[in-house]
Amino acid sequence: MSLTCVIGIQWGDEGKGKIVDWLSKHHDLVVRFQGGSNAGHTVIWGSQKFILHLIPSGIFHKGVKCVIGNGVVIDPAQVLKEIKELTMRGIAVKNRLFISDRAHLVMPYHKVLDNLAEIRKGDAKIGTTGLGIGPAYVDKCSRLGLRMGDLYQPDYFKKCLKQNLDEKNWLITNLSPYKSFKLEKVYRDYQNYARKLASYVCDTRVLIQEALEKNQRILFEGAQGTLLNVDFGTYPFVTSSNSDISGVCAGTGIAPQKINRVIGIIKAYATRVGSGPFPTELSGEMEERLRRIGGEFGATTGRARRCGWLDLVSAKYAIEINGVTDLSIMKLDVLSQLKKIKVCVAYKYKNKTYKHFPGNASVLENCQPVYKEFLGWNEDVTTIRKYQQLPLKARRYLNFITTSLGVKIKMVSVGSERNQTIVL
Ligand code: IMP
Repeated sequence: MSLTCVIGIQWGDEGKGKIVDWLSKHHDLVVRFQGGSNAGHTVIWGSQKFILHLIPSGIFHKGVKCVIGNGVVIDPAQVLKEIKELTMRGIAVKNRLFISDRAHLVMPYHKVLDNLAEIRKGDAKIGTTGLGIGPAYVDKCSRLGLRMGDLYQPDYFKKCLKQNLDEKNWLITNLSPYKSFKLEKVYRDYQNYARKLASYVCDTRVLIQEALEKNQRILFEGAQGTLLNVDFGTYPFVTSSNSDISGVCAGTGIAPQKINRVIGIIKAYATRVGSGPFPTELSGEMEERLRRIGGEFGATTGRARRCGWLDLVSAKYAIEINGVTDLSIMKLDVLSQLKKIKVCVAYKYKNKTYKHFPGNASVLENCQPVYKEFLGWNEDVTTIRKYQQLPLKARRYLNFITTSLGVKIKMVSVGSERNQTIVL
């Protein structure tokens, strides 16, 4: 039995899409377990570039089945858009994509409420993707949410939708210039989505269980990263789901002891989109350089990502939380040609040195990074496919990471193409 999880170790955008795509050919099932269309997984396939927000990256491999688990919040219009785009480009989706009947729906009012909350917060805004993810999870926890399966019980769906609209319309019309949502219109739109998605919706837990019984190989694809996790991330500047290993069980119905491999994905430097503390954040020319060479612009919103040095304090924390067994270091090529590379090994806060990641965002905001400096390598690494052929200075940098984190590096990515990968 092989159950592997791919988890982001930083604030998302580590390059999980590339690794999931790479690993998918060795798996029978690829499963998303949390988040929603706030995720943007970029996959380069031949000469084509795909950005998937909801459908797992495994869809590019024939014979692989893809599951959107119960822990995901689903904007049905977005899934339909992705199905259409993939189909148009010759990728079969029918009988390969399965959507949990327990997954919650993102409704149009969630997007409005998301944006209103951000406006109300002013300078303290989170910088959300504005796609209604937070409000959809709020409804899930306050037991008001509508689920994929409810779409197929039209009377029940309409009754619950009305209950929601009574509350949401009151909020929206009292707090903003937005117009209220009309029950019949939202109902019709969602019944229309339901018809188009009917052949994809099922009890995915049963599907996963059957795959387990057949000894099939399952890959769980995380979205966002551990530092955006609602419990262990830089709260309140986080997303609203468990983007760490804990989300796998809650978001799919798999038992924890079945998981036998956890691949932590980490960039050779750090990025973050949206607000919140980021101790190793750079500014000026160096930040611009990393952003330009790394193409650090959000796959979902197009926003410029904040860039900084690798932070081993937060990485160690994320590795412990997830029980990472293997590490994949992404975008090593972006650091080539730098004279010096820094890596954060501790924080200074009020004249004391800390090796542990603090739980409070205002403490983290005032932590000063303690850096270790490395000499850069003045060579192009994008054509290298063997670890021993990497420049000595690059290997020194990677060896320091692996020793500090206590986890073996199993993959190093040196470019965005599938084959620009060093497997150890
Ligand atoms: P939300 O998930 O849209 O509510 O946004 C909450 C925070 O998570 C914001 O800072 C977003 O920029 C960030 N975020 C959400 N999804 C992603 C992602 O896939 N990559 C990176 N940041 C994300």
